[in-house]
Amino acid sequence: MEPQDVDLSAPFGPLTLPNPLTTAAGCAGPIRELAKFVPLDALGSVTTRTIMPRARAGHATPRAAATPAGLLTGLGLPGPGIEAFVERELPWLAERGARVVVSIAGERIEEFAALAARLGGQPGVVGLELNIGGPSHADLGLVFAANPAISYDLVRAVRRAAPADLPVYAKLAPDVLSITDIAAACVRAGADGLSMINTVPGLEIDPDTLRPALAAGPGGLSGPAVRPVALRCVHLVHAAMLAGRLPTVPILGMGGLGSGRDALAFAAAGASGVAVGSALLHDPTAPLRILDELRTELAARGLAAFTDAVGLAHRD
Ligand SMILES: Cc1cc2nc3c(=O)[nH]c(=O)nc-3n(C[C@H](O)[C@H](O)[C@H](O)COP(=O)(O)O)c2cc1C
Repeated sequence: MEPQDVDLSAPFGPLTLPNPLTTAAGCAGPIRELAKFVPLDALGSVTTRTIMPRARAGHATPRAAATPAGLLTGLGLPGPGIEAFVERELPWLAERGARVVVSIAGERIEEFAALAARLGGQPGVVGLELNIGGPSHADLGLVFAANPAISYDLVRAVRRAAPADLPVYAKLAPDVLSITDIAAACVRAGADGLSMINTVPGLEIDPDTLRPALAAGPGGLSGPAVRPVALRCVHLVHAAMLAGRLPTVPILGMGGLGSGRDALAFAAAGASGVAVGSALLHDPTAPLRILDELRTELAARGLAAFTDAVGLAHRD
């Protein structure tokens, strides 16, 4: 088996993508910079930063701190708002042949639904990813993703508002009591797939000022340190699907993914697609390298197709 003979095509729910690699939400910024290093149509898809109803400046700086184990960030979801995104950013991405998954969030369930309706039928949009990791303003700051009932209502409202042929993926937070319960609620509400994981909550103290290193105080940890956390989440939810505890839908795995070997590990745990996140910040060419490495890793194991690797860690 030669690497160039490996079939990387990736069925992902209603979509079949040319390969399983996408960008993790927010990590490629507005994506224009990434396009200088990677032809966007070479990726299976590209995932945008989270788009919200109105433009947001995000948190004050500093917004990022390096830790020995990974990156701690607290950006506060800065972005252009839905109208500027649809008018200015989306056409540019569509012209480059990008298959765009738009990450969306609102402060209320109705805002998520309105965004989904607005994005239906827009050029280049192949899917929606719901960033349900933020606090709901209607529920006194309770994080949407922490509660199965709220996650259910949210996904259901979006599924109803979006065109039936536009896949909706729910992106899960790792710091919940039972990620399988949240996953089950999202799938039962009509999610076509699950993305996991979002960043892991953390805090860093600046040793000089003895104050939190980020202006916002706590932030989200990403990078190699969170990879085992992410793999556990993917493995747990895939196992629950195999056991019939929730319907089977594709999983997009992410968290500290930096190599073809990492991509293969996520596939073995049960991911049908993978996303590269913080690795892009220090190496924007990483997606092409990871795809090459993935081909080599699969060929070396005699696996003719990426799909052959999905769930291997669960076989006897
Ligand atoms: C700088 C930065 C910005 C991010 N922005 C978003 C975002 O807008 N929406 C979202 O759902 N996740 C966001 N994330 C989380 C990532 O999409 C991803 O879930 C997480 O970083 C784990 O992957 P990684 O370890 O490969 O970075 C962001 C992460 C980073 C580091």
